[in-house]
Amino acid sequence: MAVASPVGNDRIATGIDGLDTLLYGGVPAGNQVIIAGGPGAGKTLLSLEILYNNAKKGGSGTFIALEEQESVVIQNFKRAFPSLSDIDDLVANNSLVVAGEEVTPKMEVGSDSESYSFGNVISSIESIIRSNNSKCVVIDSLSLIKLMFDNQALYRKYMLMLSFNLRKLGVNSFLTMELPHSDRGALAFSPEFFIFDGTIVMYQGIEENKRTFSLEVIKMRGSNHSLSFSPYEITNKGFKVFSISEM
Ligand SMILES: Nc1ncnc2c1ncn2[C@@H]1O[C@H](COP(=O)(O)OP(=O)(O)OP(=O)(O)O)[C@@H](O)[C@H]1O
Ligand SMILES: [Mg+2]
Repeated sequence: MAVASPVGNDRIATGIDGLDTLLYGGVPAGNQVIIAGGPGAGKTLLSLEILYNNAKKGGSGTFIALEEQESVVIQNFKRAFPSLSDIDDLVANNSLVVAGEEVTPKMEVGSDSESYSFGNVISSIESIIRSNNSKCVVIDSLSLIKLMFDNQALYRKYMLMLSFNLRKLGVNSFLTMELPHSDRGALAFSPEFFIFDGTIVMYQGIEENKRTFSLEVIKMRGSNHSLSFSPYEITNKGFKVFSISEM
């Protein structure tokens, strides 16, 4: 069985240029990490690039797109990163499985069906992960699931259940989350930030009439990590994070 390659000290490298420096080598094995940001921050592309990088090293991965079709997710990745178009080979040999909205159950919004719908989503996610024997998983995004719950206490309970199930499956997971604001000053923490093991936030700012990107690791259980606020770029070859040297 192929597994994602741990880097030293039982860590999974993201393979993202500069991000592993901030993570002191990678994400601790088995951790569940939220990747949060505003629209267009790069949450989908970053999380898929992490799976792509791990699949290239022999670690099987599954990308679960709750709101997009599989073909669209792959097409957007290839258009954004022409240098990484061999993603098709990884998909063809099942090293990387992309499950789009067409394979996840249709979700109903409304209090009567909250538990029922979410139960379906969880079991569908579980069976996709089990059948692919994946060690690295992305769920894009948690925000759709949140919409299913009018009752926030129930939502929190179900997030705990998702966390428990992912832990039981023994996977490393990356869960994207939409933030209503893209600047650092407006960051507010909702329950998910406390439930899951790690949080990476992607911000967008304005500098001299140009939009800028930066990210930070807010927390990573079981690991020390950089506290730097690091600029990043999205290039034709993937993400590049500029880790500032620490004193
Ligand atoms: N080759 C590239 N070079 C520079 N920027 C790019 C490139 N390809 C894509 N982008 C940027 O990436 C953005 C899309 O990234 P992505 O879809 O991952 O964002 P997201 O955070 O998932 O957004 P959403 O909240 O809408 O789902 C585009 O809006 C564009 O700004
Ligand atoms: Mg997205």
